[in-house]
Amino acid sequence: MMIRPRRNRKSAVIRDMVQETQLQAANLIFPLFIIEGNNQKTEVKSMPGIYRYSIDNLLREVESCLNLGLKAFDLFPNIEDSLKDKYATISYQKDNLYLRAIEAVKKNFPEACVVTDVAMDPYSSDGHDGIVENGEILNDETLEILGKMALAHAESGADIIAPSDMMDGRIGYIRQVLDQNGFTNVSLMSYTAKYASAFYGPFRDALNSAPKSGDKKSYQMNPANVREALIEAQLDAEEGADFLMVKPGLPYLDVVKMLHDNFDLPIAVYNVSGEYAMLKAAAQNGWLDAERSTMETLLSFRRAGATAILTYHAKEVLANGWLTR
Ligand code: PBG
Repeated sequence: MMIRPRRNRKSAVIRDMVQETQLQAANLIFPLFIIEGNNQKTEVKSMPGIYRYSIDNLLREVESCLNLGLKAFDLFPNIEDSLKDKYATISYQKDNLYLRAIEAVKKNFPEACVVTDVAMDPYSSDGHDGIVENGEILNDETLEILGKMALAHAESGADIIAPSDMMDGRIGYIRQVLDQNGFTNVSLMSYTAKYASAFYGPFRDALNSAPKSGDKKSYQMNPANVREALIEAQLDAEEGADFLMVKPGLPYLDVVKMLHDNFDLPIAVYNVSGEYAMLKAAAQNGWLDAERSTMETLLSFRRAGATAILTYHAKEVLANGWLTR
């Protein structure tokens, strides 16, 4: 044999020398759940190790992450049912829980990068990402609400706004609202290819945001489709997105790779709640090694071409020193 690929695997030094992709703390974005109250920290049952924090405890959590070198956070609010309505009105009202949280994090830790989620579902009495009328999700009417929400986030100090709603035209609409109000520097991370997935279940538990009726298939993408993601990506790029995101992660690595190969924008991937729950459950049962299965998963996103990885594993990876072994 002239060619023996095993020679490049024969020692740790050579294996490291030929390693094609690396995972760094800078690649990670940590999603955090927020609730009303003081000194609250309640675990999400289907996501062991993940909590909903009141703002005071959120600040403690952000500080401990920053000390570990984890610098980017994506915030999600758990809103009391009594505050929800058909138009998600509370979502852009001054001093609501979410806006107070953004302000508190940026005031105390200006160096933290705060990503905010734009979508109606946590605030909607229908649990949908758009206005529901006779069982249909209205697109253009929803844009107005998303614009108000995004503007409120920018005014509160958001660094990156991430629309997760999948309405048509929302990137261009939000970009215009931000620019007209002087927020030309606020970035947009578009949930470009967001699939109608079963893997969001634990997240909806965390926020109590599941749809009250129907499903999200008329706006989130069909898991059977891949070329359709190119249409979404083309539109987002033209409308001014700064990042293209694929969500969920592991079941859609082909989509990550395809967007990476076809667009020059940075690619983000959301390693969602259900993916986290699967690995945690297996690790807790002793069926999988937590460190190795987690690192292999995160590395697969880098290999497929993502530079930004939204993952509930972000803190444990750093706290356990898994990046440096
Ligand atoms: C909703 C939203 C969802 C997630 C992020 N933003 C759920 C959904 O679309 O129902 C899921 C994230 C996760 O599962 O970790 N706009």
